[in-house]
Amino acid sequence: MGTRWKDAAHLIRPAAVFILGLVLFAILRGTVVPPGFGLYGHYRAGALDENRMKPVRYAGQAVCADCHTGEVAARNAGSHRTVSCEACHGPAANHAEDPDKAKPPKPQIAALCTRCHEASTAKPAWFKQVATRQHYPGNSCESCHQPHSPKL
Ligand code: HEC
Ligand code: HEC
Ligand code: HEC
Ligand code: HEC
Repeated sequence: MGTRWKDAAHLIRPAAVFILGLVLFAILRGTVVPPGFGLYGHYRAGALDENRMKPVRYAGQAVCADCHTGEVAARNAGSHRTVSCEACHGPAANHAEDPDKAKPPKPQIAALCTRCHEASTAKPAWFKQVATRQHYPGNSCESCHQPHSPKL
């Protein structure tokens, strides 16, 4: 009997270390994982309210028409009629609220136009696209196309 448990310490010690590890993990998890985590899914439930409280940064294009009648008319007359102002100019709620305080940044024209029009087999064939390496390379798009009404 005595010899049978002679070496039990070899099992008890690693078992103790293992249990200690488990306890430490449980304590750490309890302090580090934020409350509400996992309530709806693999994220912190409180993040939803925090995001809802962020100010809206898009004004919506109806507002732009109050002051920019010319640009709106030009845009509506051409093939960009379905492209919203803020799709090209970025979120502009601050600007629409107080034009003196904030202005939309100048569009980076080459990057802007190619974002939608660079030819790609992934795009539907009806969508007008150009391979910019062959389409008048070295010239800025707006030297030929008016951004608000791009048909020549
Ligand atoms: C309350 C009037 C008002 C509203 C609403 C308004 N703007 Fe403006 N916007 C201005 C004024 C004023 C200027 C400055 C014109 C100038 O400096 O010649 C301006 C300038 C701009 C410019 C040129 C910036 C530059 O660097 O010259 C852009 C682009 C612009 N607005 C886009 C928009 C868009 C997009 C909207 C809708 C989300 C909008 N604006 C709503 C009054 C307004
Ligand atoms: C397809 C992209 C695109 C759309 C959509 C668009 N813009 Fe622009 N807009 C531009 C670009 C690019 C410029 C800069 C032109 C330049 O620098 O020569 C510009 C310039 C402007 C300016 C400065 C004045 C000028 O003519 O240079 C105003 C104001 C403006 N846009 C308002 C608007 C409003 C309001 C709408 C919505 C009705 C709108 N834009 C829609 C691309 C766009
Ligand atoms: C947010 C996406 C978007 C951006 C950015 C954009 N366009 Fe367009 N563009 C469109 C859509 C949508 C159409 C209409 C669908 C079509 O004709 O295939 C169009 C049509 C056109 C056409 C065809 C005109 C015609 O009637 O034959 C030209 C040219 C054009 N865009 C040039 C430009 C230029 C230049 C810029 C940069 C200043 C630009 N686009 C930026 C979406 C965009
Ligand atoms: C030197 C003038 C010039 C420049 C610069 C230019 N284009 Fe064009 N673009 C044209 C002409 C002319 C057409 C119509 C004939 C054609 O399809 O080649 C056209 C047609 C288009 C079309 C419609 C294609 C179709 O299938 O009907 C798109 C989209 C377009 N351009 C986008 C751009 C973009 C984006 C840039 C900048 C990267 C740009 N263009 C620069 C002259 C120009």
